[in-house]
Amino acid sequence: MAGYIVVKCGLAAGRDEVLAEVLSEFQVLGAQIETIGRGLTSVLVYAPASEAASTQELARSLAAVGATDVTVEWLADRDWLDEYRRQAQPFSVGTRWWVDPVPGSVSLPPCGRIPLVVEPSCAFGSGSHESTQLMLCHLEVLEVENRLVLDVGTGSGILALAAHRLGANRVVGLDVDSRAVFVARRTLRRQIPPVSVLLVAGTLGGLGGRAFDAVLCNVLWETQQGLLADLRRLLAQSGSLVLAGFLKSEEEEVVAELEAVHLAVSGRRELGDWLLLEARHG
Ligand SMILES: C[S@@+](CC[C@H](N)C(=O)[O-])C[C@H]1O[C@@H](n2cnc3c(N)ncnc32)[C@H](O)[C@@H]1O
Repeated sequence: MAGYIVVKCGLAAGRDEVLAEVLSEFQVLGAQIETIGRGLTSVLVYAPASEAASTQELARSLAAVGATDVTVEWLADRDWLDEYRRQAQPFSVGTRWWVDPVPGSVSLPPCGRIPLVVEPSCAFGSGSHESTQLMLCHLEVLEVENRLVLDVGTGSGILALAAHRLGANRVVGLDVDSRAVFVARRTLRRQIPPVSVLLVAGTLGGLGGRAFDAVLCNVLWETQQGLLADLRRLLAQSGSLVLAGFLKSEEEEVVAELEAVHLAVSGRRELGDWLLLEARHG
């Protein structure tokens, strides 16, 4: 049988350890716990369909530790991405952007906003994550018009597209994941009119010695750390390096690593737990 089994129940708040103990006895995929008020949580436990028999036992074990309204249901296997696409709505980011996830029926952006048509896909960069939004907001003030821009870790291509929309002279989008480059190419072709950006599948080492006026890099900090020296090498003497992909709690470490490669912080913004730093040659 394809699909999943979901066991639903209510549980008194603060019983997380008991719940974890019960779940450790079964082959479950994960659990979703939400507070629903008055010291009560709603618990959803997901298991593969092959575990249908043992989930009945799981339901009894949950009831034995005080869970209420325990039910066991079969959940059909669905194309979750397709589902998400159908529900996705256009949304604003910053003061200038209008991110539209529906290429088939593009909406009219509110006055003054620039449309970025980005269909949800397997590549990161739908525009909904804080790190992407920080980059989009910073692009608004970066003055990339007629400049040469490098977008490292282009993912869906959303930042490369935004830089192009702001009048960058030339934009290069780079990603180590060739599937992301494929998605980015599709993103750029879906704009009206289609947008031309040079997309490269590979690493920074393959870009040669060209210096960029703005280098954007929204890549997880663990990866980005190892890229800093190369990012600096590719940055024009008066250029701006814009980094996101780390948490506010990592700021001290990020600043120290930047200083270690002679980059000085020249800008900062935050959104939720996420942080963006702009740096220049020190
Ligand atoms: C967090 S996503 C960013 C996507 C998009 N630029 C955005 O801001 O939403 C990071 C991307 O970096 C790519 N990546 C990871 N390591 C990389 C590297 N060393 N060089 C280039 N791209 C890399 C990943 O494949 C992924 O597509």
